[in-house]
Amino acid sequence: MIHPKVNEVLSEIGLYDSINLSKKGLYFMKIDKKAVGEKIYLRPLTEEDTQMVVSWRNSKRVMDNFIYRTPLTYESHLKWFREKVETGEVVDFIVCDKENDMPLGCVYLQHFEKENRKAEIGIFLGEDRAFGRGIGKEACRLMVKYGFEELKLHKIISRVLSFNEASVKTHEAAGFVKEALFKDDVFVEGKYLDVIFLGVINPEER
Ligand SMILES: CC(C)(COP(=O)(O)OP(=O)(O)OC[C@H]1O[C@@H](n2cnc3c(N)ncnc32)[C@H](O)[C@@H]1OP(=O)(O)O)[C@@H](O)C(=O)NCCC(=O)NCCS
Repeated sequence: MIHPKVNEVLSEIGLYDSINLSKKGLYFMKIDKKAVGEKIYLRPLTEEDTQMVVSWRNSKRVMDNFIYRTPLTYESHLKWFREKVETGEVVDFIVCDKENDMPLGCVYLQHFEKENRKAEIGIFLGEDRAFGRGIGKEACRLMVKYGFEELKLHKIISRVLSFNEASVKTHEAAGFVKEALFKDDVFVEGKYLDVIFLGVINPEER
């Protein structure tokens, strides 16, 4: 069952007219047409993706680049899916290879601030074959386009650990600019780490 709040939330973020309200196909109508790039397309995250996403997110390559390092469990991810994704609080897509439909990673928008028309993007690839082929750049670009054109956001932000060059470049390729460096901003695994804040403003509203 779709969470009763879903209509309300989607209506607030401007999606109400465009959704397919089948449980697994939320956002599919729109995304099917809009979020298709050269090498990839985005499709909505489903409950069936749980195990795959948990193993991607717990992989060393992803974990080492994330601020939050607590390992995900199947149950914690499913709870998050039901409470955040199905309610429309988080918009989460699976990045798929256009050639063979294979899932490669995730890109999502969270922490929506309705009054500021702002959200925060997150991205990770999970499959070895996905890295270093421009997939991250394309996924980030498509998510930003979706955020501005479909969700009518004014600004999208991101927080990246300062050593994560690939992620900074991925964001910059999608139009983000570095706005600030926060020194010793997070305490992760016994060390204080610097965090770069990046932001992109809707080009139609600059
Ligand atoms: C960050 C991530 C999404 C980038 O995706 P990707 O498909 O591997 O990256 P792309 O091939 O699109 O390349 C993006 C840019 O980073 C550069 N890059 C790629 N891997 C790199 C590396 N290991 N070190 C430095 N730069 C790198 C590329 O050369 C490219 O730069 P360019 O625009 O100057 O050519 C992916 O590496 C990833 O999932 N990393 C682990 C999780 C993560 O860090 N998520 C972000 C947390 S904020």
